[in-house]
Amino acid sequence: MAARPPLIAGNWKMHKTASEGVAVVRELLALAADPSPVEAVLAPPFTALAAVSQAIAGSPYALAAQNMHWEDHGAFTGEISAPMLTDLGCRYVIIGHSERRRLFGEDDRMINNKVRAALRHDLRPILCVGETLAERDCGSMNAVITRQLTNGLAGIEPTALGHLTIAYEPVWAIGTGQAATPAQATDAHRTLRQLLMDTWADAGRAVRILYGGSVTAENAAGFLGAAEVSGALVGGACLDPKSFAKILRFAKDSLASHQGA
Ligand code: PGA
Repeated sequence: MAARPPLIAGNWKMHKTASEGVAVVRELLALAADPSPVEAVLAPPFTALAAVSQAIAGSPYALAAQNMHWEDHGAFTGEISAPMLTDLGCRYVIIGHSERRRLFGEDDRMINNKVRAALRHDLRPILCVGETLAERDCGSMNAVITRQLTNGLAGIEPTALGHLTIAYEPVWAIGTGQAATPAQATDAHRTLRQLLMDTWADAGRAVRILYGGSVTAENAAGFLGAAEVSGALVGGACLDPKSFAKILRFAKDSLASHQGA
């Protein structure tokens, strides 16, 4: 099977105003103007989407939102819908991040509604799954990520799988500086891949599985070279254009070495 180009997404979380975001993008474009064929995705906060969209116009960078509501419109104070995001140029949307699950009470059913709504509107979901430390310690990692994936993708048509990305993000590794090892990532990714193929047969191969959780310019190469890892979801390190540019470079290099170039 030909290697899929890696996808590297930067999740800015609740950082950067619109003008600060534009400054980050300018610096990033100066350092890494052409990350292709690696797919480089930027996920600024909602308030910076329009400005970042303009700043990356004409570049190979793609825009993502960090969340969305599953309805197109309605009386949902404070929420943002898929058509609002596509109108600003978003191509991707992060769904079910552990901070959304843990701090804002999102459950698998809401997350499934969001994934389906995104696909309906031609937005590519990046569905996040991952276990807490307590769940890993008691041996239920596989059960947790299996449940999150199965429920999150309930009712998805096989034809949609090519538009879908999964991010394995162990909760204990997010923002802690304590990344999983590449071997731990591969182990979880194999479980997810098997589940995708058990559910959708060969179509399950089309789904990219990213690793996320304390990815830095220092450890990125290890993940990007690991079996079954098709990219990274980067939090803290993506706020520094130099670090993010380095990670994009590693991804490009790892693709070249996989292709024997
Ligand atoms: P981190 O965040 O890289 O800061 O650990 C990753 C994420 O939450 O997506």
